[in-house]
Amino acid sequence: MKKITVIYWSGSGNTKEMAEAVAAGAGSAGAEVALLAVDEATAENVLTADAVALGCPAMGDEVLEEGEMEPFVTSVEGAGLNGKPIALFGSYDWGDGQWMREWDDRMKACGGQLVAEGLIAKNFPDQAALDNCKKLGEKLAAAV
Ligand SMILES: Cc1cc2nc3c(=O)[nH]c(=O)nc-3n(C[C@H](O)[C@H](O)[C@H](O)COP(=O)(O)O)c2cc1C
Repeated sequence: MKKITVIYWSGSGNTKEMAEAVAAGAGSAGAEVALLAVDEATAENVLTADAVALGCPAMGDEVLEEGEMEPFVTSVEGAGLNGKPIALFGSYDWGDGQWMREWDDRMKACGGQLVAEGLIAKNFPDQAALDNCKKLGEKLAAAV
């Protein structure tokens, strides 16, 4: 069975909501899904999955959360993605998605095969955003 791992950081729960919908989409497409908060995950969880989804809101000044997610993403870059299908997602408030565009570029640069542009949702994801998260999970499962 295809193994898909969804790893996220979420301060106030909005990106967590998105992560659950991405995981549900991948599960409905027949994958075995692990959903982990980033403090429970290591780069090994990425290496051993057939495909991964990573989620983080815009923090700081249009950057990833710096205490846990940024070091985690740096460790993934160090390990390399070697063509692995990957999907990115996260919530934001006042920006225009700059953090996500930069994150997309970083994951491409270390060998990730992005199945879609990073999916962003303003604040708490509404039903349309959650539907898009589910579709992203399905697309990720289809890419394996
Ligand atoms: C410290 C901090 C920094 C933030 N920086 C940005 C930012 O640069 N751009 C932006 O669009 N939103 C920014 N936000 C808003 C969050 O991205 C937004 O509240 C998001 O929904 C939080 O997602 P979460 O519930 O998964 O933590 C910031 C929020 C906090 C608390």
